[in-house]
Amino acid sequence: MAKKKTLFECQHCGFTSAKWMGKCPNCGAWDSLVELSEQQQEVLKQTSKATTGKAKAQSISEIEQTEVQRFSSDDVELDMVLGGGVVPGSLTLIGGSPGVGKSTLLLKIGANIANGGRDTLYVTGEESEGQVKLRANRLDANAKQLYLLSEIKLEQVLAELAHRDYECLIVDSIQTLYSEAVTSAPGSVTQVRQITFELMRIAKERRIAIFIIGHITKEGSIAGPRVLEHMVDTVLYFEGDSSQELRILRGFKNRFGPTSEIGVFEMRNEGLVSAKDIGSRFFNKERAQSGSALTVVMEGSRPLILEVQALVSDSHASNPKRQATGFDNNRLGMLLALLERKLELPLNSYDVFINIAGGIKISETAADLAVLAAIISSFRDRPVSKETVFIGEVSLVGDVREVFQLDSRLRELAMHGITKALVAKKPQQNQGVKCYPVDEVTKLIEWM
Ligand SMILES: Nc1ncnc2c1ncn2[C@@H]1O[C@H](COP(=O)(O)OP(=O)(O)OP(=O)(O)O)[C@@H](O)[C@H]1O
Ligand SMILES: [Mg+2]
Repeated sequence: MAKKKTLFECQHCGFTSAKWMGKCPNCGAWDSLVELSEQQQEVLKQTSKATTGKAKAQSISEIEQTEVQRFSSDDVELDMVLGGGVVPGSLTLIGGSPGVGKSTLLLKIGANIANGGRDTLYVTGEESEGQVKLRANRLDANAKQLYLLSEIKLEQVLAELAHRDYECLIVDSIQTLYSEAVTSAPGSVTQVRQITFELMRIAKERRIAIFIIGHITKEGSIAGPRVLEHMVDTVLYFEGDSSQELRILRGFKNRFGPTSEIGVFEMRNEGLVSAKDIGSRFFNKERAQSGSALTVVMEGSRPLILEVQALVSDSHASNPKRQATGFDNNRLGMLLALLERKLELPLNSYDVFINIAGGIKISETAADLAVLAAIISSFRDRPVSKETVFIGEVSLVGDVREVFQLDSRLRELAMHGITKALVAKKPQQNQGVKCYPVDEVTKLIEWM
């Protein structure tokens, strides 16, 4: 008799191993490996193995070029993060923390797409039809071609898809759906992989645009299965949480467009709507306060003026706190070390907190100079004029480096009536903004 093969799988990242281990060597999660049954091993094989058959590869030069076709979701901001609209046959994952507005956004998008004449199916495994109807009333999402299905079995969803020529499917949420072909619990790696695989297949085969909602853990990854991110075409995450007025949807992966764009939404009574007048929403020009400095970062093709806030206060601990919200903690550590070394500020006996107003996360180094300015301003308790914006990347040796697309950043400042900017080098065209060059951090302190 053939010996039964055992296989263990990490429920966090999908790593497999022939023997059990306390810690996953791939993602470092503890106690996450579970043994797969023979049936589950079979599913794993099916989903990871390419289908057999004759080789049908074609020379790439002979393949006809097909343009990516898109249709609008009738929502400016969502179209923008998707790279210009919804791609038929694509699978998009939208993740976010509880209550951030995932269901609200997608129900409205579903209605928009349905109003555009495309049959759309909204599958909810979390709420009853009555609950969704209540929300639809509030959002004005009662579209004739929007169909609702309260269901958690994948097979039933697939059966429903066969009944009508749906062009869009929304699954709320992937963690509640389960396939009868697999015995593990809903939300487990095996289930999620199987379901996503099936949905991917059906998306490509029937050219249905599919959106799946995924819950996010505190650490910011899709609860449980990270495998999901690798399988889908596009991954979008809501930044921040439900306490913020503006909700930001950021692209992390997109097989059909750039990932640099963000979508900015606003939670209102009538739902999560594209925010208006975004340029002036993330900063306050009114009153200069100590510990606050402005910068301008590029979010995809859009320049955004942001306010960096710093609080420097006496520390009573042996290890002073350094904490950043919306800014990279390691980068903050580096900037503080630089301040101590180059500018001889005795920051090692102070706690330092950094926050980016409006709940946005800065993913660019162009804000370094503003972070330094905010820290110095808080430390000295001297306000920085809100007429001045700080733009520049700071290197380990204390040089200030130029940033890309300075032109569009300066234009944005001019549009909001900001008249001065500290930059690494004087630009050829200043767009009407007075530019003061600071090529070294020591000069920043002189200027301040
Ligand atoms: N009547 C209302 N008026 C205005 N806003 C509301 C109303 N009801 C709910 N909301 C907002 O909608 C949010 C909930 O949105 P939604 O259910 O879409 O979130 P979700 O991301 O799907 O959450 P979950 O992860 O729990 O499914 C609430 O946090 C609240 O801000
Ligand atoms: Mg929801």
